[in-house]
Amino acid sequence: MVTDEQRRDFTGKVALVTGAGSGIGREAALGFARRGALVYAIDVDDRGLAETLAQSEQLDGSVRTAHVDVSDEAQVAGLLARIESEAGRLDAAFNNAGITGGTHRIEEYPTAEFERVLSVNLKSVFLGMKYELPLMLRSGGGAVVNTASVAAVTGPGGMSAYAASKHGVHGLTRVAAMENASRGIRVNAIAPGWTETPMVVANSRQNPAFAELAKKAIPAKRGAQPSEIADAAIWLCSNEASYLYGHLLVVDGGMTI
Ligand code: NAI
Repeated sequence: MVTDEQRRDFTGKVALVTGAGSGIGREAALGFARRGALVYAIDVDDRGLAETLAQSEQLDGSVRTAHVDVSDEAQVAGLLARIESEAGRLDAAFNNAGITGGTHRIEEYPTAEFERVLSVNLKSVFLGMKYELPLMLRSGGGAVVNTASVAAVTGPGGMSAYAASKHGVHGLTRVAAMENASRGIRVNAIAPGWTETPMVVANSRQNPAFAELAKKAIPAKRGAQPSEIADAAIWLCSNEASYLYGHLLVVDGGMTI
């Protein structure tokens, strides 16, 4: 009989987490390692990755870091080739790296910035899955979780690039879930609400009145801790979520009720 503990456990499994040098991604990398996984932690922020590695030292699993730009196909392909040659398999992938871009009305939105946000937030998820899925298939199955946002189901004024990218992540997730459900691979997405990662905390310091108003508008009256979002992503990758396919799990303190 498989115990609840075993269904949550990642011992002997290999996980990939992008954007693992900060915020939600760091907590997910540490969470997978705490549950016994070998984790490939990816980011373009080397100092952030070094901090993630330092925090992982006492955990059951282990963390290996790599400087990879998730919007660059050659780098993503190289990463998955490295994982296959070193670890021989991939069981879980959390495609989470992302940027917000600036806040401008559509008519003022710089086209180059629009393209950059789409590239880092959306093309990256396509590229990630393009190279993760074949390795997962060769590993006998697995689970992918992509990070969308509440902006995947709302239209926040000023954030056209971000909202378009996150709506796109939701769509890509559903297509990938449809294409892979019969092949032993589950693909799902999470939609975090206001989460107190370094990016959001810095913005809140600059604009405390806005931050207070935003939190008041959240039914839970607080932002999420990064670990609360990471836990949801890890759970979606675990065998406890074995019948979830193409789902967008909104984790937002009730923000979009
Ligand atoms: P964060 O800024 O703390 O972490 C994002 C990480 O992604 C950073 O370490 C950054 O260096 C990395 N990154 C950026 N561009 C990259 C690239 N081209 N290649 C590799 N790594 C790259 O932000 P946070 O909050 O942890 O964000 C994680 C995800 O959660 C993002 O996709 C974000 O859009 C999403 N999200 C965050 C929310 C929040 O309130 N913090 C709300 C909804 C969604």
